Amino acid sequence: MSVADGQARHVAIIMDGNGRWAKRKHLPRAMGHRRGVEAVRELVRSLKDTSIECLTLYAFSSENWKRSDDEVDDLMNLMRKFIKSDLPEFIANDVKLHIIGDWQALAPDIVAMLEDALEQTSKGSRTLAVALNYGGQAEIVHAARRAAEQGEITEKTIDANLFTAGLPPLDLLIRTSGEVRLSNFLLWQAAYAEMLFVDTLWPDFTPEHLQLALEDFANRERRFGGR
Ligand code: IPE
Ligand code: IPE
Ligand code: MG
Repeated sequence: MSVADGQARHVAIIMDGNGRWAKRKHLPRAMGHRRGVEAVRELVRSLKDTSIECLTLYAFSSENWKRSDDEVDDLMNLMRKFIKSDLPEFIANDVKLHIIGDWQALAPDIVAMLEDALEQTSKGSRTLAVALNYGGQAEIVHAARRAAEQGEITEKTIDANLFTAGLPPLDLLIRTSGEVRLSNFLLWQAAYAEMLFVDTLWPDFTPEHLQLALEDFANRERRFGGR
């Protein structure tokens, strides 16, 4: 079986390159992250013009705690600001927030803001899944443990216990900034996802880049091991 010219329902993005974007412009890294948030905002606004039912964004990995305290603080403060400024727009645009990762381990005020945002967007029809304090290997371990507690460890029961349970299967995984690696993102879910690595640095990634990625995806032939 081959499936051609499909429309992507679930797209995930490893938003990489904020630091290099800032460096090229002789700006502080924090400025790169700030512009990165603006790129996220524009992309979310453009979702309604696409086939995407779920957009999953890698915002903070469980390994990103290794960065300097200052940079981690900047990222957490940006998160606070973003939730506050953009929540009304999510609600107005029918966006449903979903969070993957060990987000409950973030600062208590952020956890409270996220809980409120989840509640307020629960009726939305298009999903924005944000990976916060996320690691793919830890997710699989967690899901396997839960599956074992429930009875049997199978592909199906692990799948049902991942943070992404209930979301459409991952169609397309994009990474910006020219790096060609997964950095512990959606390891299980990427089994048969199409991959696209682009050189664009994340703050420069626009809705037009996403449109091109969707066109690229539509022209691929997915085989899933068949012929
Ligand atoms: C991605 O940009 C944002 C996060 C990982 C939070 P980087 O900060 O990794 O930017 P580069 O890779 O140093 O350019
Ligand atoms: C992956 O980017 C994490 C996010 C985009 C949030 P990194 O910049 O942390 O990944 P590595 O360190 O280059 O693998
Ligand atoms: Mg990086």
